[in-house]
Amino acid sequence: MPTPHISAAQGDIAETVLLPGDPYRAKWAAETFLDNPRLVNEVRGMLGYTGTYKGNPVTIHGSGMGMPSLSIYANELITEYGAKTLIRIGSCGAMQKSINVRDVIIGMSATTLSTPSRGIFKEINFAPCADYGLLEKAVTAARAKGTPTHVGNIYSADVFYDERPDLNEIMIRHGILGVEMEAAELYNLAARHGCRALAVLTVSDHLITHEALPSSERESSFGDMVEIALQAAFA
Ligand code: HPA
Repeated sequence: MPTPHISAAQGDIAETVLLPGDPYRAKWAAETFLDNPRLVNEVRGMLGYTGTYKGNPVTIHGSGMGMPSLSIYANELITEYGAKTLIRIGSCGAMQKSINVRDVIIGMSATTLSTPSRGIFKEINFAPCADYGLLEKAVTAARAKGTPTHVGNIYSADVFYDERPDLNEIMIRHGILGVEMEAAELYNLAARHGCRALAVLTVSDHLITHEALPSSERESSFGDMVEIALQAAFA
């Protein structure tokens, strides 16, 4: 049944879903990497496409920016459409000097100040973590491609325009690899519903060196990440 935010018919969403924040990236990735992509959702402009990758059905659906937005789409995809494997593909800011723009970061776990699940966990500091099988396959795919790839703890922030530089400093000092805004809640939801989740991220900017990927190069770096995610899902 269509949900408040997804108008796809039952059966139009694959069990494997890639979730970029940007709906236009969902369109680009589906048209570039999937066979026979077709638009299955455009409610509120949040584009979702379903096609096949090497014969396997895949949906690529925008999540929007931030955990509250991702939570809406991931909840509906899981509980109403039967999604089982959810892989976030997106950009992040690097937090270690050893990491460069264009590198890939795979989130083994995701640190936060809070998530939309805070009200459920109450006094528990639940540790949102990736599915190990997906993680291992993504690392294998990235190494085979020769993409410089880092695996570890990431920071899912609530704000892009952060008025607390001390928080970034603490994250950096505790070895956090990069900052983005969605993975922790995706991992929480996957744990709650018995799904597999992973975040594969391209470094678009650097919080220490302040280097940023020129927009002309964003597409090709993004493409490596999409292929790593697809190979992780179906290896
Ligand atoms: N902060 C939060 N999210 C991000 C960043 C950042 O610096 N870069 C890419 N996504």
